[in-house]
Amino acid sequence: MTARPLRLAVLISGRGSNLKAILEAIGAGRLAAQVVLVISNRPGAAGLDIAAAAAVPTAVIDHRQYPDRPAFEQALSSALDAAQAELVVLAGFMRVLTADFVHRYRGRLINIHPSLLPAFAGLDTHARALAAGATEHGASVHFVTAAVDGGPLIAQIRVPVQAGDTPDTLAARVLPAEHRLYPRVIGWYAAGRLVLGEDTVRLDGLPLAAPVQFTATGGLDE
Ligand code: GRF
Repeated sequence: MTARPLRLAVLISGRGSNLKAILEAIGAGRLAAQVVLVISNRPGAAGLDIAAAAAVPTAVIDHRQYPDRPAFEQALSSALDAAQAELVVLAGFMRVLTADFVHRYRGRLINIHPSLLPAFAGLDTHARALAAGATEHGASVHFVTAAVDGGPLIAQIRVPVQAGDTPDTLAARVLPAEHRLYPRVIGWYAAGRLVLGEDTVRLDGLPLAAPVQFTATGGLDE
């Protein structure tokens, strides 16, 4: 018996390379999911073209058209609920979400962040990792809570920092790692293996004491 594919909504603001990686994983049969809606808060985001090329429905919900954050989020929720999204995937979505919104989607809202959280929450992570002299960097996937980039961690992928790295060369090493990590984590959720419990992440029924670790050089096989 084949399980019904998980209904995903992906929220973007820009380039959409993680969206593309998710769509490719679905297309290749590596991820049992269906992207039912892509929402961008920015008109003209390149990721909208990626969605359209894959015949995925898109919506632009431009935050500037709403009087305040709750009104913007009401529009987001209406679209997500109308699409019957089961998991909401933030992929380069550059708006902070209110506690009300994240509470409403608790346990079915995830984000990818380009650092090894809790290090370097926020912006400019690659430059900040270099400035701090980090020898390792990477990306993290976490459930979203009201703490920006602070929700319970699910998995991380680590890449080495190399001598002479600039923020751009480091970003170019992290991004492909993100593209491997995110579909994998979404696949766990799709398979019913990943749950946000009362205060812990559970994978295969067991609480995660620490995020699952992958390295960019190693495989992602478990
Ligand atoms: C990624 O680095 C992601 O970790 C961060 O924003 C970037 C989005 O890139 N949250 P893309 O739009 O998926 O190409």
